[in-house]
Amino acid sequence: MSTSHPVAAVIGAGTIGLSWTALFAAHGLPVRVSDPRPDLAEAVADALAQAAPQLARQGLDVHGLAGRVQLAGDVPEAVRGADVVQENGPENTDFKRELFATLVREAPSHALLLSSSSALPASAFTDGLDDAGRILIGHPFNPPHLVPLVEVVPGERTSEDAVARAVEFYRSVGRVPVVERKEIPGFVGNRLQNALSREAIHLVEQGVVGPAELDTIVVNSLGLRWSTVGPFLGAHLGGGPGGYRHMAEHIGPSMRRMWDSLGRPEQGPEETERLITAVEDAYGARSYGELTEERDRRQLAVLAALADTTPHHEENRS
Ligand SMILES: NC(=O)c1ccc[n+]([C@@H]2O[C@H](COP(=O)([O-])OP(=O)(O)OC[C@H]3O[C@@H](n4cnc5c(N)ncnc54)[C@H](O)[C@@H]3O)[C@@H](O)[C@H]2O)c1
Repeated sequence: MSTSHPVAAVIGAGTIGLSWTALFAAHGLPVRVSDPRPDLAEAVADALAQAAPQLARQGLDVHGLAGRVQLAGDVPEAVRGADVVQENGPENTDFKRELFATLVREAPSHALLLSSSSALPASAFTDGLDDAGRILIGHPFNPPHLVPLVEVVPGERTSEDAVARAVEFYRSVGRVPVVERKEIPGFVGNRLQNALSREAIHLVEQGVVGPAELDTIVVNSLGLRWSTVGPFLGAHLGGGPGGYRHMAEHIGPSMRRMWDSLGRPEQGPEETERLITAVEDAYGARSYGELTEERDRRQLAVLAALADTTPHHEENRS
């Protein structure tokens, strides 16, 4: 990126695109947004208004935030003159294949083309494209203006230069990029999340706990722990001074015996309906706005508490 403020295009302004828009603009980038939704102007204005105080709490200057965001009439208009494009459209291979063909055609040849895709790897939708070297996944966690991780996943034909530029770009907007060297459905974050979700669904289906109790267990144990140490360092410390070796040799065998009883819930239409009802019974009385406000407030409190204590090696990891 040649200037300190590259021009960003955000394609798809749903949950993720709106959050990226706020983050990029708060870092001083001019942002062009494209989405066919009829309420685009209102959605962008609402998202910026909601995110501004949260971004300010992270030390960002949010004056003039809205002035840096421009609505584009269509995708070509949004990406013309862009240095970096962040795609956040529907999670669908055909959609992304067609969209990236347009991006390659319409964006300047130096522009980095990034997809927020949660599970589809870049190679799944770039097979027919000549210019796939600058296309790769930049997968965030919701909401990307608060949760720092971005999984940077090159496709088979992505250039090393594009990977390095993506890492540099995400760092420049305060994110923590981690490069993953093999394309695998769901990448790393969503595989881990789904391993846990699968067992969570199993435990609820078996009547061991309800959705709210399960969430209470995670928030007060694993979630708290994992905002300070990951599973491997957690286990290394769980082994006491004997470390991971002691954990693996002492408690490991009884944990591994449990692996055979981990759930593989069915999730046909009936089971899915039952689960949806259970979650709605637990949380349906509170509005989306109220729940996201509470989540974001708590998320910011954790980030603020951790800000001064982030280990050096994590800040520099890529
Ligand atoms: N929601 C999450 O937690 C999450 C997290 C990380 C990554 N993602 C990924 O981000 C992407 C977007 O997910 P989301 O949850 O924001 O979806 P969403 O449904 O909230 O938003 C998708 C948006 O794309 C728009 N769109 C449809 N066709 C378009 C077109 N031709 N041009 C521009 N925009 C178009 C839709 O109008 C909609 O606003 C997906 O690939 C998803 O896997 C989602």
